[in-house]
Amino acid sequence: MRMSRERVIELEEKYAAKTYSKRPLVIVRGKGAVVWDVNGREYIDCVGGHGICVIGHCHQKVVDAIKRQAEQLITCPGTFYNDARAELLEKLVSVAPKGLSRVFLSNSGAEAVECAIKLARKYTGKKGIIATVKGFHGRTMGALSATWEAKYRQPFEPLVPGFSHVPFGDAEAVRKAINEDTAAVIVEPVQGEGGVYVAPEGYLKELREICDEKNVLLILDEVQTGFGRTGKMFACMHWNVTPDIMAVAKAIAGGIPMGATLARDDVMLSLQETEHGSTFGGNPLACAAASATIDVIVEEKLPERARELGELLKEGINTIKEQSKLIREVRGLGLMIGVELRLKCKEYVLSAMERGVLLLTSGLNTIRLLPPLVIEREQIERVVQVLSEVLVV
Ligand SMILES: Cc1ncc(COP(=O)(O)O)c(C=O)c1O
Repeated sequence: MRMSRERVIELEEKYAAKTYSKRPLVIVRGKGAVVWDVNGREYIDCVGGHGICVIGHCHQKVVDAIKRQAEQLITCPGTFYNDARAELLEKLVSVAPKGLSRVFLSNSGAEAVECAIKLARKYTGKKGIIATVKGFHGRTMGALSATWEAKYRQPFEPLVPGFSHVPFGDAEAVRKAINEDTAAVIVEPVQGEGGVYVAPEGYLKELREICDEKNVLLILDEVQTGFGRTGKMFACMHWNVTPDIMAVAKAIAGGIPMGATLARDDVMLSLQETEHGSTFGGNPLACAAASATIDVIVEEKLPERARELGELLKEGINTIKEQSKLIREVRGLGLMIGVELRLKCKEYVLSAMERGVLLLTSGLNTIRLLPPLVIEREQIERVVQVLSEVLVV
């Protein structure tokens, strides 16, 4: 028999670290863009595991791939060759921006960023990393040093030395910040945690040019924007910009933990044996899930779907904006959408949950929507309906 809602909450409250602001909902099942609570109530999921669920919950092809691989081999360290890993590596490079032809596999976004930072320092022999105001790159000490928000950083200082932050969207500020010890610039093509800010037109291209001119590496953090979310396989493809290093995670393996750092051959090969590693990284179970996930994204043309449905969702929210004094701005790319309110948004997120729609936040004032790209039109219409009930006051 399934544990009751009350018992689940009691146990989590008693034993889990208190690092998350919890919502009073016990989720036990998911399919496509829908999740169910312990009492069988249905919710449209625009949280999507904080952007993981690009192909939806429990996609059958990924479930089958996981089952098959679990029967075969679950773990195999990087010191041996493995067929599931080999298949994924080839597949990942085939969908990545051209030139990113070597991969280090890990287990999370923060780890993918850590590897990117180490790579930049190793390849250039320099220490400085320029990041952006409102940028978010994870919570391990290196990734945290690139993250901007004081509430994430301050309790843990001193962080890794050599990091600086310049305003997002201002390429000239990057040029000015570069000095003889700068190894790399790290940036999200669309800032996710920072409030859903899309790189202004021309920004990434200018960064690419400045980095080339100054002999500095360009790292793109596509942990949240990767794998179709913004309407292209990777967001940098909107602007035809190829970084030297790219960090990805979240959606890559259909919900199984995995991170990956992709780089040019010469950059990745600057790391020698023993200079980086991960016990779980590249395990066959995650690799099989990731291969199946990439197949689904390509076969179901999910980037195109994100573009079309993102427009539909944005249009719907913009219509609400005309009638709502609460909404300050609607931003986003594909199915990565931010709705900035004039007030704190937590109360509205909870009201939407009572009406059967799960929403994410981004900072205190911005509602963030990261629905699975397999979401149906009718579900989008329902989300818009609920947003209008909640936000038109
Ligand atoms: C852009 C970006 N980079 C890195 C991370 C860290 O990823 P993880 O939580 O898997 O460590 C996140 C997580 O939200 C992110 O959005």
